[in-house]
Amino acid sequence: LDLLCCSYAISAVNESQNGTVYLVGAGPGDPNLLTVKADRLLRQCGALVYDSLVPKELLDLVVDSCECHFVGKRRGHHSLPQQKINSILVEIASRHSCVVRLKGGDPFLFGRGAEEAAYLDSHGISVEIVPGITSGIAVPAYVGIPVTHRLGGSSITFVTGHEEKDKKRPIVNWRGLANATDGLVIYMGVHNLEYIVDELIAGGLNPFTSAAIIQQGTVVGQRLIKAPLNQLVKEVGTLEFISPSIVVIGQIVDFQIEACSPDLANVTMPI
Ligand SMILES: C[S@@+](CC[C@H](N)C(=O)[O-])C[C@H]1O[C@@H](n2cnc3c(N)ncnc32)[C@H](O)[C@@H]1O
Repeated sequence: LDLLCCSYAISAVNESQNGTVYLVGAGPGDPNLLTVKADRLLRQCGALVYDSLVPKELLDLVVDSCECHFVGKRRGHHSLPQQKINSILVEIASRHSCVVRLKGGDPFLFGRGAEEAAYLDSHGISVEIVPGITSGIAVPAYVGIPVTHRLGGSSITFVTGHEEKDKKRPIVNWRGLANATDGLVIYMGVHNLEYIVDELIAGGLNPFTSAAIIQQGTVVGQRLIKAPLNQLVKEVGTLEFISPSIVVIGQIVDFQIEACSPDLANVTMPI
């Protein structure tokens, strides 16, 4: 196995003077959802740059000499500007042949992975994407909610509920989405939930459509709140807010099979 890992490392090093940056998806929280490729890269990388919402168990996979940088961002608490993160990656790639940029879930789903990849590419750094299991699929799945279903979920939309404060007009056309998709999976949607629900209903979505919020999915403490769309805000408002959360709207919620939920007793919340 060591030999295999070693040959993988050699083939992974690009021929320029700079190393390769791997934009790696860490999965949604349960460290067991890491891909085999991500596991292999974490064990061999010379430097690791990681975000919030990355399972802390994964940090134990790197070798002792690995140079580790936390650049985590949480809503409202941006610890480092994106430009700074980009510069750090370029600098580190000039010193290490294998750099892992670890992001929660999948790097290309609301993770600014494409921006980082484009920046690195424009600076002559070799970059590779290692997809991860996104929270939008895994978190509903861990409570037994399928994101598609032959009988009532032929289309699904992954959408961000986060709007920048200084944005002149909303980027998501919620009214347009109301009748354009069977199901919605909303990332970062809880803070704007009232607005989103109002817009969807104004756009023609049945107020009694089934909806769910899953908080801290795939780890111990995972919580599921289910309510008809027009009751969702009230329902979540009576409970203490827990981050992160995924919102699922549509008939797919009715297809939940509770028996699918795994035992999460030993799976703790990511950093
Ligand atoms: C910046 S986005 C990154 C998404 C990530 N790239 C992915 O593919 O899952 C962060 C949002 O993902 C969702 N999220 C991530 N992990 C989650 C979890 N364990 N439980 C519930 N929602 C989660 C939340 O909506 C959170 O606000």
